[in-house]
Amino acid sequence: INLNVSATGGNASSPLTYGLMFEDINHSGDGGIYAELIQNRAFQGSLEYPSTLTPWVSIGDAVLTLQNTSVPLSKSLPTSIHVASNLTNGTIGLLNPGWWGIDVKPQKYIGSFWALGSYKGKFTVKLQSDLTDEVFASLDIPSSATPEKWAEHKFELEPRIAAPNINNTFVLEFDSKAGSLNFNLISLFPPTYHNRPNGNRPDLMEALKDLDGSFFRIPGGNNIEGDAYHYPWLWNETIGPLTERPGRPGTWGYQNTDGLGLVEYLNWCTDLSVTPVLAVWDGMYLGNEVDHILTASELEPWVQYALDELEFILGPSHSTHGALRAQLGHPEPWELKYVEIGNEDDLYDNGAETYSAYRFSMFYEAISASYPDLILISSTGDYTAVGGSNTSNPSATDYHTYTRPDYFVSQFGHFDNASREHKSLIGEYACIQGNVYNQVVGVDWDAPKLPWNPWVGSVSEAIFSLGAERNGDAIIGMSYAPGFQNLNSYEWAPDLIAFTADPSQTVKSTSHHVIELLSNNRYNATVPVTADSDFGPAYWVAGVSEPGHYTFKAAIYNSTSTVPFSISFEGLNEGAKGTLSVLNAPDGLSSNTLENGVVSDVVKKTVTTLAAGSGGVFEFELDNYDVAVLTT
Ligand code: AHR
Repeated sequence: INLNVSATGGNASSPLTYGLMFEDINHSGDGGIYAELIQNRAFQGSLEYPSTLTPWVSIGDAVLTLQNTSVPLSKSLPTSIHVASNLTNGTIGLLNPGWWGIDVKPQKYIGSFWALGSYKGKFTVKLQSDLTDEVFASLDIPSSATPEKWAEHKFELEPRIAAPNINNTFVLEFDSKAGSLNFNLISLFPPTYHNRPNGNRPDLMEALKDLDGSFFRIPGGNNIEGDAYHYPWLWNETIGPLTERPGRPGTWGYQNTDGLGLVEYLNWCTDLSVTPVLAVWDGMYLGNEVDHILTASELEPWVQYALDELEFILGPSHSTHGALRAQLGHPEPWELKYVEIGNEDDLYDNGAETYSAYRFSMFYEAISASYPDLILISSTGDYTAVGGSNTSNPSATDYHTYTRPDYFVSQFGHFDNASREHKSLIGEYACIQGNVYNQVVGVDWDAPKLPWNPWVGSVSEAIFSLGAERNGDAIIGMSYAPGFQNLNSYEWAPDLIAFTADPSQTVKSTSHHVIELLSNNRYNATVPVTADSDFGPAYWVAGVSEPGHYTFKAAIYNSTSTVPFSISFEGLNEGAKGTLSVLNAPDGLSSNTLENGVVSDVVKKTVTTLAAGSGGVFEFELDNYDVAVLTT
């Protein structure tokens, strides 16, 4: 393939081309990146997921029950654990196995619990092995519990050695003479990313940081919408002290603690230097309850609710919600430029109809009147679907695509004729099923998804991404979804990053490698490429950051032989230097996995220094399923 790359004449690329998307699915928040180690720390429940004692275990002859005491810890956390004993001598207590294990290292763990009851003795808190009972850290804390008022007990545990595995538990014990006590909000945090109180797991944050994303789409996905019990994500119930957060039934089969809330998401943006793309709920529930999409009058308070959220984020500290933000330690507004109205509102007929009839416009008009500089994104993937006069507004749209390798490759040109005025966010994309022999077909939602993305899937995603990069003036950016999978409990595979409680078991998918390569090699504008061959089996894009500094990206799909490239870049002469980075895997079906506790990483990266030959031509060959970046 002979290619000539021009120095100018292309399109400006979006500064946000690659980004991240997060929602609490697959225990990616609670039990995942949110670093809280105690599972079911505050016995939060809902109609959908009633409060439970799981996974708490009694120690000694303690009898554990759930209790709504006449003095609750807070209105938000009314249910506590009652620990009672018939013993007059001995130690009783309760044990928590964490979120499928606890990683014990010689580092500081910060803990706290609230207690209610009559007890003047001491509590003992421990981190210990579940297999051998070896104690890695132990501390006695004098009780300040009284029967009238909940008392908080704070502590630090610092093991001297690392536990050999994650089969460890947290234990809270006391003298059975106490008779019975109630406990609530029993919490334990390891060191967090950027040492944020109530923060995130450093290793998983690092895995995101590797991707050099520029935006962060939160808080969903479907998790913003709420399932059968009509309970959308409520921003104001996810802020402030943990005692004031009731939690909610998440959309993905479990109760969310909401410890990872709006402020934590915005801090996350600060810590990863990414810009938020904030979704607001717009009146569509999921599950079998789409019969009740809110009417325009029912929706009005929700429009105000979204405006209040925006005032919390953007308003001056003398405004009502800006003052609340300041009171929570953030006097300065956060930066927010993008707001998405809903999530996948084209999912159901009456969803799409009501969205285009009134739901989108109610939010659009109210938000743009108060915040004219915000870029408002419709959630249908097609900006014309918002209908009426809105088609002339400057809104963008969020396009989601979950599909198969052949189909992704066929979508290389998807954005070639897309609107430049109404840009597209590719808020979710992933290859989730294998090819169907000889047919370019989309996904079959009734068929199983792949457990792990194979390399061919990641290559096809790369080709789709190169197609989006070629149209950098038509897109806002793209984010793979879902981001995380807790391998102990998940609803959706494949995912970008799979993990357990053991940081050494984190699997960065083959797609993670592709995004890391493509995202870390950005440029300011595309540049035209003339070629003596059509796209397929090779696909490419070229860009420039400053004169002479080109970035050329290519991927090969279904080639029966090696593909030779001869590329000249305008202005570069013989001897000009380039660096060629190439990703590949043993074969298209290889996946990164965790099997029997062992992480396999099949992706190999080779980096070669090239020099342009006569006429300034760079020559190299790529193999089938190579994903490559050449920088000069
Ligand atoms: O990423 C998983 C789900 O796929 C998201 O929650 C939803 O937006 C999409 O349907």
